[in-house]
Amino acid sequence: MSDAPTRVIVAMTGASATPYAWRLLERLAGARIGVELMVSENIDALCRVELASSLDAELTRIYRKAPAPGEKLGEAEDGGPLVRRHGLRDFAAAAASGSGREVPMVVVPCSTGTLGRIAGGVSDNLITRAADVCLKERRRLVLVPRETPLSAIHLENMLRLTHAGATILPASPGFYQGGERVEQLVDFVVQRILGQLGLRHLGRYAGWGEDEPS
Ligand SMILES: Cc1cc2nc3c(=O)[nH]c(=O)nc-3n(C[C@H](O)[C@H](O)[C@H](O)COP(=O)(O)O)c2cc1C
Repeated sequence: MSDAPTRVIVAMTGASATPYAWRLLERLAGARIGVELMVSENIDALCRVELASSLDAELTRIYRKAPAPGEKLGEAEDGGPLVRRHGLRDFAAAAASGSGREVPMVVVPCSTGTLGRIAGGVSDNLITRAADVCLKERRRLVLVPRETPLSAIHLENMLRLTHAGATILPASPGFYQGGERVEQLVDFVVQRILGQLGLRHLGRYAGWGEDEPS
């Protein structure tokens, strides 16, 4: 586990599927993995629609306080902040440059708009710029779209991103681990995200045919 990351860039964009992001943040906070948080404009609206909650309420639930853009809270295992929230125009953030150490990135949920902009190399905000940096530096980049059905444009963008080194991880839970409750289905996808980030040991379930989570 020595090569497991101690810090992760978590970007949330305006697609349905925010519960996956909150569960991921819970898991990371529980393990004291530091998070560089980037949130696009629609997230508050999505939290209200999907969870009858709000961005600040969810952040407060997980971190005891909701960090404002530019604010950092708590202490992670690596000595950095437990969470640092970035403004979308914070192009001075470390994640906007390839010169720093590798921090893997996940965009969850990933809207088709953000997916298209990353595929097109359009670094118009910190999320798309940080993703662009991951691709050019050959770093781990996991994109979690929810969209269905998919157009040829979506599929071509996904193929392009896969060729460039990203992992497209659709928010499509499997049912073979006995998912009776929504929480279990959410955990299924979050476990796959954690695995792609090199943090499989934080997951809840064993892999198919395995006895223990490892
Ligand atoms: C309630 C709600 C649900 C949405 N669901 C999706 C979705 O599942 N997938 C998607 O690509 N866009 C979805 N959108 C539209 C995006 O939020 C919109 O295209 C936005 O411009 C994306 O911008 P962003 O990528 O900067 O967050 C949704 C919007 C709202 C208000």
